[in-house]
Amino acid sequence: MQLLNSRPLSRRGIIQGLTLGTAAFTTPGLFAEQLTATPRLTEGPYYPDKMPLDTDNDLLVINDAITPAVGEITYLTGRVLGAGGEPVRNAFVEIWQVDGRASYIHSRGRNPNGYDSNFQGYGRFLTGGKGEYSFRTIKPIPYSLQGMARAPHIHIAVSKNGHRLLTTQFLIKGHEANARDNVFNQLRDPRDRDAVLVDFQPLPGSKFGELSANFDIVFSRTPQEADDGKLTGGIGKSEGGGRGPGFGHQPPRWR
Ligand SMILES: [Fe+2]
Repeated sequence: MQLLNSRPLSRRGIIQGLTLGTAAFTTPGLFAEQLTATPRLTEGPYYPDKMPLDTDNDLLVINDAITPAVGEITYLTGRVLGAGGEPVRNAFVEIWQVDGRASYIHSRGRNPNGYDSNFQGYGRFLTGGKGEYSFRTIKPIPYSLQGMARAPHIHIAVSKNGHRLLTTQFLIKGHEANARDNVFNQLRDPRDRDAVLVDFQPLPGSKFGELSANFDIVFSRTPQEADDGKLTGGIGKSEGGGRGPGFGHQPPRWR
């Protein structure tokens, strides 16, 4: 189901929410030196090997299903920004994560305890004029798959004009499992670590205990602007995960 017109948080609500946070970036370069480039982290082995029937930005409901996925409902928003804080529009943001039973939709990412067939597991969104994106999903939970335990995280990838520009993951700020997470611990610089930790906070006014989370993606250099308003490609290729047990040490491409 398309999230855009769904209640309780309308697209308008999301955009308005973003506008406040975007104000500081309307002057190009104003806060450039304060932006920390988003560090790259491994794609891991569970980028979908078969896309779900529905790939929109509402991961809670597949197509027009009646039953939603189980989990703590989270409105995830953010912006894709160039090195100087300028918005990167027409970029595909993809996310994928485990469901409420700690399973991916990937055929080798199923937990023996089963999976939530109502969870879409993957979604994509094309950034708007301010580089903004939005998803409705669930708060991630820890998982252990193929012998590897992970702190809760959401995988995220950005592509533009058919090329994958950045692959990373973000974790829950303050989660006790972060300290022993092998992927997170690849990051040594406190600024890098901080850049992939996201606050999951109560959504203001929500009667249902929903959460909001915001994750801005900042490139260490600005993707080539070939923006004539036309898309010359779609989603960039997966990096082919599958190499290693989920934390293959790939050199950062952007920094
Ligand atoms: Fe993962």
